[in-house]
Amino acid sequence: MKKQKTDIKALISQMTIDEKIGQLIQLNANFFADSSADITGPWEKLGIDKEALKTIGSTLNFHGADEMVAIQKKHLEEDRNKIPMLFMMDVIHGYRTIYPIPLAMGASFDPETVTECSKMAAREASAGGIQVTFTPMVDYVRDARWGRVMETCGEDPYLNSVMGATQVKAFQGDDLSDRDNLATCVKHFAAYGGAEAGRDYNTVEISERLLREYYLPAYKACIDAGVTMLMPSFNTLNGVPSIANKWLMKKVLKDEWGFEGVVISDYNAVGELLKHGMTDSTKDAAEMSFNCGCDIEMMSITYYLHLKELIAEGKVSEKAIDEAVERILTLKDALGLFEDPTRGASSEKEAAVCLTPEHRDISRRAAEACAVLLKNDGVLPFSESTKKIALIGPFADSKEIKGFWACCGKDDECVSVYEGIKALLPDAEITVARGCSAQWNELDKDGFDEAVAAAKNADAVILCLGEPQKYSGEGNSRADIGLPGVQNELAALCLEANKNTAALVFSGRPLTLCELDAACPAILEMWFPGSEGGSAAANLLFGKVNPSGKVSMSFPKAVGQCPIYYNHPSTGRPKRKPEDVHQPYASNYIGCGNLPLYPFGHGLSYTEFTYESMELDTHELTKDGKITVKVTVKNTGDRAGKEVVQLYIHDLYASAVRPIQQLVAFEKISLSAGETKTVTFEISEPMLRFWDAECKHISEAGDFDLFVGYADHPYIKDTFKLI
Ligand code: NOJ
Repeated sequence: MKKQKTDIKALISQMTIDEKIGQLIQLNANFFADSSADITGPWEKLGIDKEALKTIGSTLNFHGADEMVAIQKKHLEEDRNKIPMLFMMDVIHGYRTIYPIPLAMGASFDPETVTECSKMAAREASAGGIQVTFTPMVDYVRDARWGRVMETCGEDPYLNSVMGATQVKAFQGDDLSDRDNLATCVKHFAAYGGAEAGRDYNTVEISERLLREYYLPAYKACIDAGVTMLMPSFNTLNGVPSIANKWLMKKVLKDEWGFEGVVISDYNAVGELLKHGMTDSTKDAAEMSFNCGCDIEMMSITYYLHLKELIAEGKVSEKAIDEAVERILTLKDALGLFEDPTRGASSEKEAAVCLTPEHRDISRRAAEACAVLLKNDGVLPFSESTKKIALIGPFADSKEIKGFWACCGKDDECVSVYEGIKALLPDAEITVARGCSAQWNELDKDGFDEAVAAAKNADAVILCLGEPQKYSGEGNSRADIGLPGVQNELAALCLEANKNTAALVFSGRPLTLCELDAACPAILEMWFPGSEGGSAAANLLFGKVNPSGKVSMSFPKAVGQCPIYYNHPSTGRPKRKPEDVHQPYASNYIGCGNLPLYPFGHGLSYTEFTYESMELDTHELTKDGKITVKVTVKNTGDRAGKEVVQLYIHDLYASAVRPIQQLVAFEKISLSAGETKTVTFEISEPMLRFWDAECKHISEAGDFDLFVGYADHPYIKDTFKLI
């Protein structure tokens, strides 16, 4: 973080203890203005004194530049020390121009797309008065029932780390005081995604080894990338809520990782220590959280009520309070707030910067890069000269496709599939038949006849299916992750009527799609694609753009397979052939088997890629050496396309059981028809380290398998030895 224009130590020395505590409190904007913004957590009257409001250091959930400027102006008039407030919000996948949800961004396997979208979001959000975004969310996930899988980049620690670090760098840029940049806050530390049974806010019990190997690396990667803030998670981690978890917050975060940024609680998480049953007193909650390193308390006021008393009793040190305030003021200074408290935000700038054609273009290209062609029996792409098109299903002409938690994005600013196709093929005759609802409890089939008639009468049918956007995101877990309502029945009838059919799926998680997969010749996963979802869908369906996304989280065959993840450890009783449905006394689900329907890394294209060779310059790796791996790929089809070259290893023998496959590198490349390219990867000893039974991060000499391909699908295999 660049600094320092303001003499922060001198400023702190003139602050009263109440003023210092004010910096450690974050309240919703409706405490300071008549705000129209969404409240992102439970709302309770807190009972904070009007005078104290003048000292509050930061706010969240305000709406737009005008509101921000008014709050800041009033605050600076009232605050004796003239310390600007910090304005924070959740800019998760765009501010006004919405790009695909993070799980989709993971599926792009393309850090460049992530960079471009994050920079766009930072520009727009900054014009709207936001200074810090509660991004990136890098919780590692294995269970699609959890609604917040939509906010992560998926089930692989390495992919999640790369994408998290990329977001930090793109949002923050080189200089935080540049008005186009935002500070970032990595969350939710730690292992929020490990919630039992995928139910949000639920308990997390995992071993330290598992935690360190799968769950922690992405948070660490964001810290190494320079993230300025960190948010502990709501959940208990091995019995203790993160915010009061000394092992996590002190030993790992501060002592081992040396995190020097600002720690902010999640919404009312300090107050929730009482509901967890850690204590019956808000005073204890304040003491536990502050002494665990939580600098700012969001939307509960235990610090306001008790810190002064805790200092007087010697339970909290004033030096620690000063240090916390210093961290916060240093961030304000790095953002340039003391000279530039509104950073040029205005409604005029907001109007000029947001939703421009350039930004819509970025969003559309991102949606195209994220879509995954799950299945294609040759139906796609449809010809651009198709005359009669039937668009069937609840998402046929729906604008509710931007995805949950889209900041200032509006549904009516999204391009629906119908609008996208109409714009691409103005002369085609398009019939829209909704057919049924996407809600789980709406089973009405009144629209079936119209839909089947439209399917019969069409040259090409596009089924537009999925789950409502509010089925994923915070607090929205599902016990059944199939297509809700009667959508499968609708699809079956339309497919009987017309086989020239492809399905688009809109979802915030991998759904169980076996029925659709069995019946439908082509399936394109759109996720929640954002403002330009319909334009992207049209370009992909009619072959203007070649799909290139890859599955970022396994699509289970049945919800009972959850948690399911490709990089699982070996079992002592594996099946002879993973695809077998039954084998007695083997680790297996009868009937369904263990494999997902669509594994991690899978994704088809309209062209063919042939992996011609994988060459290693040596098969022996020394501790300080490297192996150079050259993978040659040819586009053997007849159109240009992009391929994600993925490199996996398997450590064959180790003192702690290793995953059967593990992504260690990837690169997305473009190949024109007939073109051949060679991708170069390097393998070095640190990539082979793991957490052993004593939780030491080590590597062990021995044999490794290496392959290019995707989960459970090696194209070319080789081996090497660590000596
Ligand atoms: C609760 C969520 O868990 C967190 O991700 C978010 O940043 C805060 N609310 C603020 O909206």
